[in-house]
Amino acid sequence: MCGIVGYVGRRPGKPIILDGLKRLEYRGYDSAGLALLEPDGINVVRAVGNLDALFLAAGEDSSDACVALGHTRWATHGRPTEENAHPHSDCSGRITIVLNGIVENYKELRERLVAKGHTFGSETDAEVVAHLIEEHADEGLTTAVRAALGELEGHYSFVAMSSDEPDRLVGTRLETPLVVGAGEHEMFFASAIPAFLCHTRRVVVLEDGDVVTLRADGAEYTDVAGNAIVREETEFPGDDDAAEKAGYETFMLKEIHEQPAALRDTLAGRLREDGTVDLSEVEGLGDEFLRRLRRIFIVACGTSFHAGLIVSYAIEQLARVPVQIDVASEFRYRRPVFDPDTLVIGITQSGETADTLAAMRLAREAGSPVLALTNIMGSQATRDADFVLFTRAGLEIGVAATKTHTAQVAALLLLALRLAWARGAMSEAELTALGRELRQVPELAEQLLARPSAIEQIAQRYHDERFFLYLGRGMGYAVCLEGALKLKEISYIPTEAYAAGEMKHGPIALLNSESPVVVVADDGPVFPKLVSNIEEVRARGADVIAVATDDNEVIGELSKDVLWVPKTDHHLAPILTVIPLQLLAYHIAGIKGLNVDQPRNLAKTVTVE
Ligand code: G6P
Repeated sequence: MCGIVGYVGRRPGKPIILDGLKRLEYRGYDSAGLALLEPDGINVVRAVGNLDALFLAAGEDSSDACVALGHTRWATHGRPTEENAHPHSDCSGRITIVLNGIVENYKELRERLVAKGHTFGSETDAEVVAHLIEEHADEGLTTAVRAALGELEGHYSFVAMSSDEPDRLVGTRLETPLVVGAGEHEMFFASAIPAFLCHTRRVVVLEDGDVVTLRADGAEYTDVAGNAIVREETEFPGDDDAAEKAGYETFMLKEIHEQPAALRDTLAGRLREDGTVDLSEVEGLGDEFLRRLRRIFIVACGTSFHAGLIVSYAIEQLARVPVQIDVASEFRYRRPVFDPDTLVIGITQSGETADTLAAMRLAREAGSPVLALTNIMGSQATRDADFVLFTRAGLEIGVAATKTHTAQVAALLLLALRLAWARGAMSEAELTALGRELRQVPELAEQLLARPSAIEQIAQRYHDERFFLYLGRGMGYAVCLEGALKLKEISYIPTEAYAAGEMKHGPIALLNSESPVVVVADDGPVFPKLVSNIEEVRARGADVIAVATDDNEVIGELSKDVLWVPKTDHHLAPILTVIPLQLLAYHIAGIKGLNVDQPRNLAKTVTVE
């Protein structure tokens, strides 16, 4: 949610910032801006809309400014207008900032600053930061940033520049990401590493309260009190091709097709050839704890919540541990009962979702061990957890999550197997057979994506429908929730996902010949019951589009269309059955001419509550 990028070096900063913003656009795209520190002062350009508008406003003119800032916004306080777009400046225009996050006490700060004679040009919470820095401008930018920090409440990261000290940028963070990139005679600030990965792989992940002064030749790290501190530099291992579409029309389509690789990487080294699991990340919990574990809480939002729901079935069925799953924004306010024999799993691909982080902190304070499942190295979730399990899906740019979702399911299935092992809930033979089957899933996903499929024709036929109902049972129901979310997120068609057995208690009233019903039919134990539900749908004249495993003749006969997936154990099937649903949503949105990578009002990382 909001992306920051800053550059200090010897090269012109404008193209570096614009390119960095492109790589961060997934974080917000309702407005954007750029600040160039020119010899005659700071030149700010802002525009409403996605980055194309900023590129247009910034024009082709070159600039020699070697100190520059950029920002891409997802509005929290203040509508997406040019005035509210970042960067924001103080009254004199000598100090300019970009901010990601929320300043909670901005109203009182603003009132105080206005009473002192400051004039504000926007409705944002962020602008108070520029004026607070202005108050202390005589003490130098770094000291002024530190002074501002002392007055702010909330969670944010910001970077400031001053025309009085034109050789530097000063940045700080509190519970919101900010990383430093160290190049040759050039330094970077960014909300996320990909922003500068094409320039340097040397990365410093900042801690809360760090105040960092960047000059072309290096960084000075201090704490809130001004004491010098040391921050370790690491070499980022990932690839830099993730911000490119690599020949695909959209990031979403590219990421759908990257699922076999994401699954393979997530399982690599964690699932031996004989089917046994080697999950060193959770070994710190200890076998004794895994055995005596009485309950698991899973907390997450959005697509991550659906991954948790899918695997909650598998954990209970395979490891025989009761699992309670809740959306993080509900969980944190319902006074959950914790105890030391409860494991809390926070699932967040970005590692930044405010509600999930708050829920994890709550659990930790109450004495329950917390495991984070995330895709992002150095993210806040990795700091707020006792243990961290990484998915290795690579950077996901499409706002509608795809490859991170299936990678989450795969990682959680590993955990389910590890738990089942520790608790003796399954025989060794059953466990290794399932482990070996899981090893095959990336290959099956690859086969599935390579098959000719009827999805585009089906999308063509139904793209004008006004409502889609999704029905499934067990894990298939959880897959339906994810499929329905994908369709509504990117095509704006209202959808409802229901447990198929519950349909007759309400949603059946919605059915008629104009309402397609998507049914996820894996080969689980409740398949015969699902068949009865499909009959109920057919009896109301609705078309059934089924997702089913190869050779399932019953489904073939009952459905108007079938999206076939390769056979696997039904506990693992959700990794495959969700893929046709991602593609169906993708093609429907495409036919409607919508921007699938940047659906309206959404942001990929949601750092506000
Ligand atoms: C936003 C995104 C969703 C995502 C959810 C949770 O709503 O648009 O795609 O599933 O946040 O994100 P997380 O990073 O915590 O998994």
